[in-house]
Amino acid sequence: MANVAVIGAQWGDEGKGKVVDWLASRAEIVVRFQGGHNAGHTLVVGGNTYKLSLLPSGIVRGKLGIIGNGVVLDPDALLGEIEKLRAQGLEVGPHNLRIAENAPLILPLHPALDRAREAARGEDKIGTTGRGIGPAYEDKVGRRAIRLCDLAEPETVSAKLDELLLHHNALLRGLGAPVFEKAALFEALMALAPRLLPYAEPVWERLDAARREGRRVLFEGAQAVMLDVDHGTYPYVTSSNTVAGNAAAGSGVGPDAIGLVLGIAKAYTTRVGSGPFPTELHDATGRLLGERGREFGTVTGRPRRCGWFDAAMVRQAVKIGGVQGLVLTKLDVLDGLPELKICTGYRVNGEVLRRLPFAMRAQAAAEPIYEAMEGWSGSTRGARSYAELPAQAVKYIRRIEELVEAPVMMLSTSPERDDTIALRDPFAG
Ligand code: GDP
Ligand code: IMO
Ligand code: MG
Repeated sequence: MANVAVIGAQWGDEGKGKVVDWLASRAEIVVRFQGGHNAGHTLVVGGNTYKLSLLPSGIVRGKLGIIGNGVVLDPDALLGEIEKLRAQGLEVGPHNLRIAENAPLILPLHPALDRAREAARGEDKIGTTGRGIGPAYEDKVGRRAIRLCDLAEPETVSAKLDELLLHHNALLRGLGAPVFEKAALFEALMALAPRLLPYAEPVWERLDAARREGRRVLFEGAQAVMLDVDHGTYPYVTSSNTVAGNAAAGSGVGPDAIGLVLGIAKAYTTRVGSGPFPTELHDATGRLLGERGREFGTVTGRPRRCGWFDAAMVRQAVKIGGVQGLVLTKLDVLDGLPELKICTGYRVNGEVLRRLPFAMRAQAAAEPIYEAMEGWSGSTRGARSYAELPAQAVKYIRRIEELVEAPVMMLSTSPERDDTIALRDPFAG
């Protein structure tokens, strides 16, 4: 099988966008299968920077981009992003972007509810991106969502709006937030219809044809395993399944079509938003990682929390996410640190565990168990072959492989597209 899926193996922002862009040179189609514009993927190509949220990263290479049914689609965000890329000289239109007609839409009432709920949670807030992702997935599962294909049927939109408003206005009122009027929402959707429908199609048919024609498909995950709604640090997670298995359900292909699964992990750890983070550093080293790694959220601009590499967590993500090979990114950020630490397990209420427990209090109580390693004095920044890496950096990589129980198949040594080392071709199957 010559397809590849890329998923995050930590808490997001591992550099999936860069890796997908690099791999896209070898693929014909790039598919997003979950999440929405809560994702922020930064690509640096020859000094040009592209920031993508909803569009598959392969679009920058001129590849066919597909937004699968598993994505929650904010029409304004989509059209805005298309305009932004066009202004950067890229061609984006129905010829190179197809969207599953059964993808549910994010309406203005979703971010309103997302934010009202976060405000009501106060100190206990999830720290969402405020983009309406959770409420949109709730409506999908609640069988109320307006889907892209509905825009061709004004009667369907009208009836669904009645049901949605009955539900949402009651909640918004209860939270003391302004309610929504049907007429304005209906008119906005009808105005969007002719701009969106040219992109809509049953993408499963195209993916089925691609399979029969032997075309290479790259599945691009957003967020990461530790933000998975089932397997992550619940409730401090996003509202979709981020594991590789969801690439099938989220785009309309069988599980055997997913191919090789690559898990992307930084050589250290970051997290945006609230929730447990056992290896978080609140000291000068944490600040150094944040500054060197330019750890600010692409979507919200929030500073990312930083800490040591957590091998116990990535091992868990490898097993649950179906990861067959690791891509280690941002190795350069560790250049020159005299000592590195790797978390190999946790002490939880007197017990030693090699996994992060699921219960909230146990999760919050997890104390990392570290092993220390000597750092390297040379530079890995911009390295394009294994031979250029300091011996101690290679040792660090080897130790990570052992602990997470997966081989490192690629390395990234700067934000730039070509500062990448592939130890084997993931599309070789
Ligand atoms: P994604 O959400 O997983 O696609 O990751 P983001 O794009 O949100 O965050 C990763 C950030 O790190 C981006 O700003 C990238 O340009 C940058 N980046 C990716 N790989 C590397 C690397 O190997 N070294 C350094 N220094 N930066 C990198
Ligand atoms: P990419 O694809 C990092 C986090 C938010 C919050 C939680 C829930 O760039 O890796 P949501 O708005 O999804 O309901 O927020 O999930 N989060 C991300 N963190 N990278 C992302 O995407 C994220 N998408 C959501 O910060 O903690
Ligand atoms: Mg990101």
